[in-house]
Amino acid sequence: MNHKALLLWIFLQCATALFSSALGDNAAIKGEDNPLEEFSSDGKSPNGIVKYNMRKSLDLDHEGCYLQTGKKECLEECGFNATAKTIFIIHGWTMSGMFDSWMSKLVSAVMQRETEANVVVVDWISMAQQLYPDAVNHTLGVGADIATLINWLQDELQLSLEKVHLIGYSLGAHVAGYAGTYVRGTIGRITGLDPAGPMFEGVEEQKRLSPDDADFVDVLHTYTREALGVSIGIQQPIGDIDIYPNGGEVQPGCALGDVLAVAGNFMEVMHCEHERAVYLFVDSLMNKDHMSFAFQCTGPDRFKKGICLSCRKNRCNNIGYNTRKMRKRRNTKMYLKTRADTPFGGYHYQMKMHVFNRKQADDADPTFYIKLYGAHNDTTDIFVDVHDNTVGLNLTNTFLVFTEAEIGDLLKIKLSWEGEAESWNSLWKNLKKTFWAWNAKPPKPVLEVRRIRVKSGETQKKFTFCAQDPSKTEISPGESITYVKCRDGWEVKPRKRLAV
Ligand SMILES: *[C@@H]1O[C@H](CO)[C@@H](O)[C@H](O)[C@H]1NC(C)=O
Ligand SMILES: *[C@@H]1O[C@H](CO)[C@@H](O)[C@H](O)[C@H]1NC(C)=O
Ligand SMILES: *[C@@H]1O[C@H](CO)[C@@H](O)[C@H](O)[C@H]1NC(C)=O
Ligand SMILES: *[C@@H]1O[C@H](CO)[C@@H](O)[C@H](O)[C@H]1NC(C)=O
Repeated sequence: MNHKALLLWIFLQCATALFSSALGDNAAIKGEDNPLEEFSSDGKSPNGIVKYNMRKSLDLDHEGCYLQTGKKECLEECGFNATAKTIFIIHGWTMSGMFDSWMSKLVSAVMQRETEANVVVVDWISMAQQLYPDAVNHTLGVGADIATLINWLQDELQLSLEKVHLIGYSLGAHVAGYAGTYVRGTIGRITGLDPAGPMFEGVEEQKRLSPDDADFVDVLHTYTREALGVSIGIQQPIGDIDIYPNGGEVQPGCALGDVLAVAGNFMEVMHCEHERAVYLFVDSLMNKDHMSFAFQCTGPDRFKKGICLSCRKNRCNNIGYNTRKMRKRRNTKMYLKTRADTPFGGYHYQMKMHVFNRKQADDADPTFYIKLYGAHNDTTDIFVDVHDNTVGLNLTNTFLVFTEAEIGDLLKIKLSWEGEAESWNSLWKNLKKTFWAWNAKPPKPVLEVRRIRVKSGETQKKFTFCAQDPSKTEISPGESITYVKCRDGWEVKPRKRLAV
């Protein structure tokens, strides 16, 4: 074992121990016995047993029925409808020997959205509840088993593969990939929910989920942050469309994970971020009226700067279940920001403003806040994140502003420059300045922003905002400027403003 593999091994061993305790109290789908007991009681080896539980009722106490390759009577008993959609849900690695609590939520969301669909839970728990490398080793066999069932359904019922959708979480995403590889024909769609990274990152396409495994492969990546050189969710794009909510890094609502944090916290963060993919998918099934959009971008840094909010030429798409199939394009990376809780969708705005240096501002390093006033509601002051950069002087700056609440039509924008005394950071800067300059009062920097160009990612509408008071376009620390929609387009001449 090389050094990196050894670290991975230790990490997984540790994760294993913690996983089992952290998950101990998670519910299985209610009414189902722990499948492990069943395996041990009938004395069968856990290898090679995959169960297909077709859910028949939203009542989770109702066990549903089981499909088996070659058993026609099961199809009748289950009321399998060959002309409806068939949706398989595939879990990942588990140490608890039970379904995690997300399973019942996903199943019920799918059933409520697709009331006629055949919803089948693929239960490979006995093989998933092993050391991670062994569970990985079973993904091919389980995928092939699913393919065998689907092939039989094609023979028996002329099931149309177009209507088959496999949804796999973590390791389950790669199981779905193998199913797509071994099935006769091409499956309609595979959705990978934060596909597992360890032992799949960088391997050849045949050994992981890839765009060739179905007619349309869409992937949500939520936990791609590295710890000890591995990332729990795969980082590289592996579908036709790969969506990275919040850059696939820190998910809001999952307390900031620090490798130095106590192990328990670390595991909770890991769980929260990895499973966020499932909850985003559930959200997309349930909140059809409040869809979240993702925007194509070459990387997270450009997205965070607000450069990529275009919908032209299919550059934006809905996320989760509502993702639209696009002309075959491999590995298209898309990004969005989300709220911390359901409904996860928020509102993205691109803001562009030219910042003139009017006086003494060469080293000013301004900290800006933006407050948006809408027809329905206002935001708080939102920190303008320039991403490890300073605001460019005598340049046009582009920012991304994200709001959690719907504010309605944007009416007014307030730009504030944090006052000298308002933050410890600027207080400290100020102290240093006064220390070196003793009595000399630090000169007051002056910047000028005449207008702000705004584009809404969600509506794709563009507006230009001009200073409400045309004589007030200069700003110094502790001050603010208010902007309203310009009379028309680029109009900047002083005029009476229209009532909006
Ligand atoms: C089977 O599904 C099709 C398509 O969703 C639907 O039109 C039909 O009514 C269903 N048949 C039964 C018996 O539920
Ligand atoms: C994986 O399975 C193959 C046979 O299917 C076996 O030869 C190999 O040793 C297994 N690898 C691991 C790491 O268990
Ligand atoms: C910006 O332009 C002003 C004059 O218009 C000049 O004094 C200042 O040095 C310039 N600052 C930068 C950072 O280019
Ligand atoms: C406006 O937003 C605040 C939080 O920002 C929220 O508490 C309030 O309910 C919202 N009001 C309306 C009318 O939506």
